[in-house]
Amino acid sequence: MVSDIAKHYPVLLSELISIITPQHGGTFIDCTFGQGGYTKKILSHKNTQVIALDRDIESKKKANKILEEFQDRFIFKNKKFSQLDNLKLKNENIRGVIFDLGYSYTQIKDPTKGLSFNSIGELNMQMGLNDFSAKDVINKLDVIELEKIFKFFGEEKEAKKIAVNIVKERKIKKIDTKILVELIEKTKRKKNFKIHSATKVFQALRIFVNKEISELIHGLIAATRVLEKDGVLAVVTFHSLEDKIVKYFFKSLSEKKSISRYLPKIDQPDTLFRMEEKKPRTPSPKELKENIPSRSAKLRYVIKKDNFYNFDTDIFNKFEHLIEIENFGNKLWKNFQLFF
Ligand SMILES: C[S@@+](CC[C@H](N)C(=O)[O-])C[C@H]1O[C@@H](n2cnc3c(N)ncnc32)[C@H](O)[C@@H]1O
Repeated sequence: MVSDIAKHYPVLLSELISIITPQHGGTFIDCTFGQGGYTKKILSHKNTQVIALDRDIESKKKANKILEEFQDRFIFKNKKFSQLDNLKLKNENIRGVIFDLGYSYTQIKDPTKGLSFNSIGELNMQMGLNDFSAKDVINKLDVIELEKIFKFFGEEKEAKKIAVNIVKERKIKKIDTKILVELIEKTKRKKNFKIHSATKVFQALRIFVNKEISELIHGLIAATRVLEKDGVLAVVTFHSLEDKIVKYFFKSLSEKKSISRYLPKIDQPDTLFRMEEKKPRTPSPKELKENIPSRSAKLRYVIKKDNFYNFDTDIFNKFEHLIEIENFGNKLWKNFQLFF
């Protein structure tokens, strides 16, 4: 449970609205409903419909309020966006699919979720519909696995030392959030005065526990399939790994590949997307002043050029090294034993 004071301010809202243009009506999918900031703005335009998803069941309370007002134009599903395909939305005239990745301020401030290094108590970090928690990760994975998680998902330079110390410490006592923060602070000799010593390890654990890499890749692919011609796919990212994935996906499906340098570009297959802006949109100085958590937000978008639903992508190969690390979590699945 979280106090009412923790309010989430939707990031880059006016930029997003100017890109998806709900004033022309149509159906939109809000893959990360959160506190409903984007959804409410879209629904404020006549002739719009929103299908919203969120993996956090807490979002349902906000969704129920919106439902009271917009019964006939709003649907909420407590689902992960990687399951967008299961909603069987093909040919439903979807004009826009939006993702606002990361966590709402309300989630960060919820002590039971333990997403922040300021939390007290058991390690958790589950956003919702998870298979395991950060407590399982810290207590059950081996040194090499922990090191890789911290190194690749957090870009933590002292990943190895931190992993070694975790495995030593867990033999002596139960590691909760506070003990983990102290252990990281003790392990890291060089202090960085710009960010907290535990920031990178906590980012890495959140990405790992919530399988954010494969969620995003599956989500982008499913979103591309359900969009209609001229539909917009827009994504707000908050860290460099997410942004790298989105940038690659958009770029690789917007640029003609040189199959052969002897073949004129005109004869090469057309691309799936049109990219109108290569650079991401970022918060204005005014937004940065009013909403500090928006500082790392980047908004990228593409427009689908035609109604084709099957396409090839090499995105899984491109990010295979990250997916392999995420798969360390398979042995922590709560229901793992049911399979055997
Ligand atoms: C930054 S918040 C979105 C805020 C929202 N745009 C608003 O204006 O209130 C991100 C939300 O996405 C949800 N989320 C993150 N990953 C998800 C996933 N894979 N599937 C569904 N929801 C997800 C989180 O639970 C969180 O509520």
